[in-house]
Amino acid sequence: MRSLISLAALAALPTALSQANSSYEDYTVEANPDLFPQCLQLLNMSFPDCASGPLSSTPVCDRSLSPRDRATALVSLFTFEELVNNTGNTGLGVPRLGLPNYQVWGEALHGVGRATFPDEGDFSWATSFPMPITTMAALNRTLIQQIGGIVSTQLRAFSNAGLGGLDVYSPNINTFRHPVWGRGQETPGEDIHLASVYGYEYITALQGGVDPETIKIIANAKHYAGYDIENWNNHSRLGNDMQITQQELSEYYTPPFIVAARDAKVRSVMCSYNAVNGVPSCANSFFLQTLLRETFEFHEDGYVSGDCGAVYNVWNPHGYANNESAASADSILAGTDIDCGTSYQWYFEDAFEDSLVSRSDIERGVIRLYSSLIQTGYFDGEDAPYRNITWDDVLATDAWNIAYEAAVEGIVLLKNEGDTLPLSNDIRSIALIGPWANVTDELQGNYFGPARYLISPLIALEGSDLDVTYALGTNLSSDSTSGFAEALSAAQDADAIIFAGGIDNTIEAEAQDRQNITWPGNQLDLVQQLSELGKPLIVLQMGGGQVDSSSLKENENVNALIWGGYPGQSGGHALVDIITGKRAPAGRLVTTQYPAEYAEVFPAIDMNLRPNETSGNPGQTYMWYTGTPVYEFGHGLFYTTFDETTSNTTAGPFNIQSLLTTPHPGTTYIEQKPLLNFTATITNTGERSSDYTALVYVNTTNAGPSPYPNKWVVGFDRLGGLEPGDVQTLNVPVTIGSVARTDERGNRVLYPGTYELALNNERSVVVSFELVGEQAVVLSWPGDGTEGWVYPEDKDVHADGGQDVLSR
Ligand SMILES: *[C@@H]1O[C@H](CO)[C@@H](O)[C@H](O)[C@H]1NC(C)=O
Ligand SMILES: *[C@@H]1O[C@H](CO)[C@@H](O)[C@H](O)[C@H]1NC(C)=O
Ligand SMILES: *[C@@H]1O[C@H](CO)[C@@H](O)[C@H](O)[C@H]1NC(C)=O
Ligand SMILES: *[C@@H]1O[C@H](CO)[C@@H](O)[C@H](O)[C@H]1NC(C)=O
Ligand SMILES: *[C@@H]1O[C@H](CO)[C@@H](O)[C@H](O)[C@H]1NC(C)=O
Ligand SMILES: *[C@@H]1O[C@H](CO)[C@@H](O)[C@H](O)[C@H]1NC(C)=O
Ligand SMILES: *[C@@H]1O[C@H](CO)[C@@H](O)[C@H](O)[C@H]1NC(C)=O
Ligand SMILES: *[C@@H]1O[C@H](CO)[C@@H](O)[C@H](O)[C@H]1NC(C)=O
Ligand SMILES: *[C@@H]1O[C@H](CO)[C@@H](O)[C@H](O)[C@H]1NC(C)=O
Ligand SMILES: *[C@@H]1O[C@H](CO)[C@@H](O)[C@H](O)[C@H]1NC(C)=O
Ligand SMILES: *[C@@H]1O[C@H](CO)[C@@H](O)[C@H](O)[C@H]1NC(C)=O
Ligand SMILES: *[C@@H]1O[C@H](CO)[C@@H](O)[C@H](O)[C@H]1NC(C)=O
Repeated sequence: MRSLISLAALAALPTALSQANSSYEDYTVEANPDLFPQCLQLLNMSFPDCASGPLSSTPVCDRSLSPRDRATALVSLFTFEELVNNTGNTGLGVPRLGLPNYQVWGEALHGVGRATFPDEGDFSWATSFPMPITTMAALNRTLIQQIGGIVSTQLRAFSNAGLGGLDVYSPNINTFRHPVWGRGQETPGEDIHLASVYGYEYITALQGGVDPETIKIIANAKHYAGYDIENWNNHSRLGNDMQITQQELSEYYTPPFIVAARDAKVRSVMCSYNAVNGVPSCANSFFLQTLLRETFEFHEDGYVSGDCGAVYNVWNPHGYANNESAASADSILAGTDIDCGTSYQWYFEDAFEDSLVSRSDIERGVIRLYSSLIQTGYFDGEDAPYRNITWDDVLATDAWNIAYEAAVEGIVLLKNEGDTLPLSNDIRSIALIGPWANVTDELQGNYFGPARYLISPLIALEGSDLDVTYALGTNLSSDSTSGFAEALSAAQDADAIIFAGGIDNTIEAEAQDRQNITWPGNQLDLVQQLSELGKPLIVLQMGGGQVDSSSLKENENVNALIWGGYPGQSGGHALVDIITGKRAPAGRLVTTQYPAEYAEVFPAIDMNLRPNETSGNPGQTYMWYTGTPVYEFGHGLFYTTFDETTSNTTAGPFNIQSLLTTPHPGTTYIEQKPLLNFTATITNTGERSSDYTALVYVNTTNAGPSPYPNKWVVGFDRLGGLEPGDVQTLNVPVTIGSVARTDERGNRVLYPGTYELALNNERSVVVSFELVGEQAVVLSWPGDGTEGWVYPEDKDVHADGGQDVLSR
């Protein structure tokens, strides 16, 4: 998906294509020049008139019928041309029937992101929360739910004013597998449990509950699947064919989508640009039918949208189909219901004439879209739920200042030598230096709407009772030292130095991966010189992806290091309040900070997570990495100390067969059944009030076959406001599914053996347990494991060039 906000992104498609791997040259590597004008159009939207319009006397307006029946009735009224006109994201409506046009493409990654924003006055802004990578670091489920709720209320206000639609292409629940990925910033990090919980909370908040009677806003789980590279080494996302084993597809690349579809009941899923094992996602019936609908139980009225241009890409550059018409037919037959693009609208007529598709193939997708829209109350008039939400509600929800709260909770303290932070009261003046000091939009990352205000670190410090002197010092990627002298001079005159730098969307972006994970430009040279002044020096490492900060970790004159990600509209306030001690940090890294060589030693398009000495892959994510990270996934320091104890360090043994056969009230699926609660007593033994955060991991070295992951997350929680001396109980439920492993065929299996549950990376509490009995499958994966898991017939058919699959 490209951001509408940055119109520069319009230029990104041709760039990405022209940089495509030379093996794509066979396919006239040109962006579809006509795609984006229509695709990007923002429409003035209105609601259909069921009171007196042409549809009022039809079943479409009969609220006693099911959404599916009403949508079927609607689509049955369309002529073929009218039907085709409504298969793209820019739905052209049916003027004859009083059906308004409808723009499917909305965005709400971390606030209302794509809507019509008048230049001033009401609806000229929306709350801009931190990017998900920062919010997830707070380890607070309630916070995610609350943000999703606010965003959906604001979206409804825009919709009621005709300025936006009722669905959004959010959230992004791909896992942040490799640190160079330009869009990792949009995700909740590298772990599947975190991504699954994030998706569940955000989706259910946007939609207004789990499968609610009236959908508040239709959420979309994207990008399905195996999408986590933009253009690394010129491997364009539009044409990448990712090789993924069945085991790791099931273990790592799809679990957040199972939770989104089956548990959160998301109503829309986006198929991704890339191919997996030879088949582009939007033409992959194994993905869209066998897995998504038959295995992940995707809602029967839910619709799949292609990423914008992805149907076109099935032809060019993938070359999976021979032309755009065949690409359209391949995609609709595989299960891509709506094309974000124009291929369907412009080529279905050809495809139909060539008997590649039938009318009912096309109807199926449009019925699914309209079933979902009907369930939002689209046809139900002004007394339908949520139709009374107005600009006043936007004002009210912004005033809660949850954008600030999320930033404060998500900031991670990486290093704090000699308790430099929070700053002592003796420090009265600050030299604020660096490219992130006086930022504006950079705070918002990507996919953002206009914010009401953007608080930079500079603005926040100027509003504090500290004296602040600002000097840029150097630009983010600059090699010029012309600003060093001014910065050093400002630093000389101050009691303490804050350097605010790192990366931003000039370095990591949509359509732009990084080539390396070092600090860009000469920022580190300047920090080195600042560190020689012998003053307290605090470095803010900003941006969604990690950069190698090992030299800062080792430099004892760099006293403190903070990661802030993209902290949103109140980011500066949050950072300054952490630095001054008004608030205490408790966030934890949701990605691994690798040493720089990690990005050099193996290709970022190598999707294998397991280490492989032959290929040089050192293992990916904290689960499999065999090297030593600079800062580990899950790392995060506090301003106080906590004592963590448990009354019992063993549990079980549990017999696998009895676990699977005894009733499990309150859970629908066996993997959701509780195994045990991980409990610990947490005491604030230090001097300062602080929240506490917990990641609970499991590991084993004898259950099931080797290789064994280092460990994996089974739960997390955040405890609030522990004053010095306070004691709270941490209770993290651990399910049967979370201790299962994945076999080579993709089945999730409970294996007998010994396991340890451990609290945080420090393993400050360890509970061991044993599973006994026979190994058993708790979630089976379809398909023939020995063949790889692309349908063999798809492979065969497409080996000779293209379209025959359509005649099946
Ligand atoms: C393009 O991809 C092919 C197949 O993966 C590979 O053999 C070739 O080296 C790549 N070419 C470039 C220029 O990256
Ligand atoms: C939307 O409405 C505005 C103001 O009513 C009008 O100027 C504009 O042309 C309309 N845009 C479209 C695409 O209809
Ligand atoms: C379909 O869309 C095209 C392009 O906007 C338009 O010219 C045509 O009139 C539409 N057809 C119908 C039947 O609405
Ligand atoms: C990517 O392609 C561009 C344009 O063809 C070329 O200049 C550049 O060297 C390539 N980069 C890599 C890493 O191959
Ligand atoms: C809006 O409608 C809901 C019911 O759908 C109702 O609970 C709420 O009080 C209404 N709000 C206002 C401001 O009228
Ligand atoms: C901060 O940046 C803005 C532009 O974004 C500029 O107008 C302003 O002068 C800068 N402030 C300082 C103190 O340099
Ligand atoms: C790191 O990669 C960036 C592009 O992401 C490039 O501009 C820079 O020169 C590279 N730096 C090094 C040290 O290779
Ligand atoms: C390890 O990498 C080599 C070279 O790429 C490859 O041939 C081999 O199959 C890999 N081993 C496994 C277990 O994936
Ligand atoms: C600890 O748990 C084990 C297994 O559940 C149980 O057998 C044992 O009695 C417990 N010990 C204490 C001190 O509670
Ligand atoms: C875990 O804790 C919850 C809530 O505190 C409780 O309802 C549940 O019974 C406990 N489950 C087990 C397996 O002890
Ligand atoms: C879990 O990992 C720890 C740390 O590596 C190790 O000491 C322990 O033996 C492992 N536990 C099991 C059950 O394998
Ligand atoms: C988690 O977030 C919620 C919603 O913002 C907030 O009320 C609560 O205090 C947070 N919990 C902790 C432990 O900080």
